[in-house]
Amino acid sequence: MIRLIHVSKSFDGGRSYAVKDLSFQVNNGEILVLLGSSGCGKTTTLKMVNRLIEPTEGIIEVNGKNVMEQAPVALRRRIGYVFQGIGLFPHMTIEKNVALIPSLMGWPLQKIQERVRELLELVDLPPEDYAKRFPDELSGGQQQRVGLARALAADPAYLLMDEPLGALDALTRDILQQKLLDIKKQLKKTIIFVTHDIFEALLIGDRIAILHKGNLQQIGTKEEVLSAPATEFVHDLFAKPARQLADFKDIL
Ligand SMILES: Nc1ncnc2c1ncn2[C@@H]1O[C@H](COP(=O)(O)OP(=O)(O)OP(=O)(O)O)[C@@H](O)[C@H]1O
Ligand SMILES: [Mg+2]
Repeated sequence: MIRLIHVSKSFDGGRSYAVKDLSFQVNNGEILVLLGSSGCGKTTTLKMVNRLIEPTEGIIEVNGKNVMEQAPVALRRRIGYVFQGIGLFPHMTIEKNVALIPSLMGWPLQKIQERVRELLELVDLPPEDYAKRFPDELSGGQQQRVGLARALAADPAYLLMDEPLGALDALTRDILQQKLLDIKKQLKKTIIFVTHDIFEALLIGDRIAILHKGNLQQIGTKEEVLSAPATEFVHDLFAKPARQLADFKDIL
């Protein structure tokens, strides 16, 4: 379980807040989607969970333990993460990138090799073509898929995903969304998944937390946020896609 208790973050000594008094819980085996516009505090929230950013106020617990009392390196190894702008290691091949955490954890070589193959297959990058390449020999979307494989490599119980499918075309995105749902169902992962794509949020999230300017507007299942929006912002956020969906129904 991941729990945030009255968490705030200010980058300017309290003049403004990137995240303000945020409390929510992600239950074991659940995907919680953080949804909101650019600059609303999604990445900041996610990075506080594995201590890439430290909160100004409040407590964050992973597995019932305050993250500030856990060693950052050990914490980050136990929580898989895919972050915007934190890319692959350019001097390592794709297979080395994916193998990184299992290697650091001392897995036997053969087990690591099997795992790397399995994961590259999973993200549709056949190892015989891609394993020995370097990141700059892959397209942006392919690199993003390697990032996803790397996050899953050591089979962590927790995953933090910051727009992990952002650079992908609709078709590849669709395939990976389904794979992610399969992985979650089979392996009971606890996931925080950041997106600004409303349809992705509705598809992936067991529950959706809507952020606006650092404030939590509402958290609930898709039925709850669609049928009983808690604020005007939430109402407006879903109103347009609902109209678009209705338009499509006429066409299809
Ligand atoms: N290291 C930092 N120093 C100062 N301000 C920061 C820092 N990181 C983020 N911010 C500010 O905090 C706010 C929230 O940023 P954050 O990156 O969490 O947004 P986001 O919701 O992830 O946006 P996007 O969808 O564009 O990725 C923004 O106003 C941003 O400018
Ligand atoms: Mg972000």
